[in-house]
Amino acid sequence: MSGSDETAITVTLRVNRFTPRPERDRGDRGSRAGRGGSPFGKRGGSPFAASSASRVRRARGKSWTQDYVLTVAPDATVLDCLLAVKRTMDPTLAFRYSCGHGMCGSDAVAINGTPTLLCTASVKEWAKADRTTLTDDDGFRRTDAGLVDGEDRRDDDDRLDDGDLGVIELSPLPGFPVQRDLIIDIDPMLDQIRRLEPYLQADGALARTSEGKIDVFEYLQNPEQLAKYEMLSNCIACGVCEGSCPVFAGGDAFIGPAALIAASRFVNDSRDAATDRRLEMIDTADGVAACQSVRACSRQCPRGIDVGEEMWQIVAKVKER
Ligand code: SF4
Ligand code: FES
Repeated sequence: MSGSDETAITVTLRVNRFTPRPERDRGDRGSRAGRGGSPFGKRGGSPFAASSASRVRRARGKSWTQDYVLTVAPDATVLDCLLAVKRTMDPTLAFRYSCGHGMCGSDAVAINGTPTLLCTASVKEWAKADRTTLTDDDGFRRTDAGLVDGEDRRDDDDRLDDGDLGVIELSPLPGFPVQRDLIIDIDPMLDQIRRLEPYLQADGALARTSEGKIDVFEYLQNPEQLAKYEMLSNCIACGVCEGSCPVFAGGDAFIGPAALIAASRFVNDSRDAATDRRLEMIDTADGVAACQSVRACSRQCPRGIDVGEEMWQIVAKVKER
């Protein structure tokens, strides 16, 4: 990839790959798709019940793990590496991306088991020791690779001096049906966001002059009112918070943090007149009641939203109703 770079080092991408079974071989798979039920979600009575069932559907096909060894610049992103693999080593590898700089949210995957974006993850930051080489030929644990209790404790400089950064494990975002390799089906998440009507529903009352004439054709807000939802409007629906949530990713019936963030964005908007209905829509067993306040959803949000705190706030608003 960056063979001419003086500081280039090697890294192994260990990719969990998946090829779905061809459509004609699948038989009646669709009717048996459900996986488990929710201890929190009641059957029926919720607009999210159907989408929760389809969200956890698992496609059938062939799964395997594939290693790609590359020479890279330490500051390269994991997306750079995958593009290099696709162009020069294996054109069959499937992954999704668009903007390449953290704006579109299309490239969320699990890196070393942690949901994050491919385009903002640097190789240097995520590479770790290869656990498959922890023992020597005689079966004893190696002590010459900076490994302590199986963890890579070398600092960045040591690893760069070694010329081998180690391994980066890539798998699809948890909690979503896998379509191929690292590509997941995000339609269930988008359906859940759409059901909560993510658009402004104002009451139509525009500012008027003292004579009763319309003053401005806008719904005015002051900076304090804007600050209440501005951060929330930065959500790019990447699904990282959903993949991090043990309830959502565990397959239980839950509308998920991304949909609740979309609802919260309008609940906190002073111009919106549909707050009561919005809170009612999420006051279900698989709505806010399914949130277990684990707060794992906050850890990797690429837009810096404290998702767990927002969940807490909107749960409080539902309870206060
Ligand atoms: S809240 Fe953050 S992590 Fe969740 S979908 Fe939006 S941008 Fe992604
Ligand atoms: S490719 Fe757009 S956010 Fe990563």
